[in-house]
Amino acid sequence: MGTPNPYMKILTIVGARPNFMKVAPIIAAINAHNGRISANPAQLSDPSPEPIQHILVHTGQHYDEVMSGSFFNDLNLPKPDVHLGVGSGTHAAQTAEIMKRFEEVVVSEKPDFVVVVGDVNSTMGCALVTCKISFDVAGSRPLIAHVESGLRSFDRTMPEEVNRIVTDHVSDLLFVTEESGIQNLCNEGVSLERVHFVGNTMIDSLLTFKDKAEQSTICEKLGLRTGSANGSSSTLPYALLTLHRPSNVDNREGFLSIIEALQELAKDVPVIFPVHPRTRQRIKDFGLDLGNGADTAGSNGCSAAAGQRGAGIMLTDPLGYLDFVCLMKHASIVVTDSGGIQEETTCLGIPCVTVRENTERPVTVECGTNVVAGTKKENVQEAIRRQMHRESGSTMPKNWDGRAAARIVDILIQTHSVKNSSHRPLIQQGCA
Ligand code: UD1
Repeated sequence: MGTPNPYMKILTIVGARPNFMKVAPIIAAINAHNGRISANPAQLSDPSPEPIQHILVHTGQHYDEVMSGSFFNDLNLPKPDVHLGVGSGTHAAQTAEIMKRFEEVVVSEKPDFVVVVGDVNSTMGCALVTCKISFDVAGSRPLIAHVESGLRSFDRTMPEEVNRIVTDHVSDLLFVTEESGIQNLCNEGVSLERVHFVGNTMIDSLLTFKDKAEQSTICEKLGLRTGSANGSSSTLPYALLTLHRPSNVDNREGFLSIIEALQELAKDVPVIFPVHPRTRQRIKDFGLDLGNGADTAGSNGCSAAAGQRGAGIMLTDPLGYLDFVCLMKHASIVVTDSGGIQEETTCLGIPCVTVRENTERPVTVECGTNVVAGTKKENVQEAIRRQMHRESGSTMPKNWDGRAAARIVDILIQTHSVKNSSHRPLIQQGCA
């Protein structure tokens, strides 16, 4: 072993759209830690005053400006230090490419920690690489920290469920967002010493940026906000829709059944539908006509035609983070098959209908504003009707207080200082 690195080195992975808002607060917490050290090193005792060297790796799983680049601006994320440029492919091809390219980065950087977030292919691919790396004959390797650990839909046909299970079982530090995660990990035999209930870094981002999102002009662009003679403005009622799960959009009949339920709602209020690239492709493949709404996606993906009753389903390009948060905040209802949006609507107190058979985020139903409706037309319609008339109010889930990332960074620092003081190798191969 050479001279010890004066820095604790953390390598963080982003790959796909839902990763960016989970990582941004962790980077902010690292910067805050480094800022405290440089401002007043003498006053810091425990945890370790070591500064953190941070390396941001983008796998390139998502690569379009609207799916990736714009999020870096909105969330004040630094430019990635390493870009693997992986792009799209089958699950096997994409994951294999991520693994091949990421292995070289871990070997050359030799970080103390690899931090992965969420449940996308980049999460699992990078965790798998790290758990099999060996820097020396003692088998030392970086510790793997999984942020948003323990969530389970119990539906292994979802690629994300497989990614969650594999990532959790090869990780060393499991950062959990809700109490169900602790129980799930316990049921799977994971040692609770590795589990930390820190809260939700996606909610950290939402709490940080929800006021700034008010500066977005997306409601005006979509014709949802009108000015009045006295200079004040009011936002018209509208619904917000997102759909991208293969199980919902890859089958024509299933996709149509969900759309028909939304067409019913669109008779009363405009339904704003920012369309994921996968979904747009399916709309084209299936030759779907989404009915009485205009397809407004163009170079700027917006139009000013929505502000009328029964304006139909209005398609737009995928939106940036601040525009989307602004639209969520002012929506009468959100209909989605996303995981993160169930959490964000819970935090904002906006009624949400999840068009899936299950959720890996039960806290959003237990104390939030979410209803899991399934995907049958009648069930989705019924859930929408109930949610449009629900009493307002929800309880914020435990630890969703904007401090999850700070807790994570504290635990990483403590873990590093314990490891250094005991002079143990980073970790032996195998994670049990
Ligand atoms: C991925 C994640 C999913 C997450 C979603 C958010 C996995 C297994 N899935 O799904 O959990 O909810 O991201 O968006 O990791 N494409 C583009 N531009 C891009 C990216 C993709 O046009 O920037 C197109 C490609 O044709 C690609 C398709 O969209 O084949 C799907 O992208 P992919 O990354 O395979 O999965 P997502 O459906 O986005």
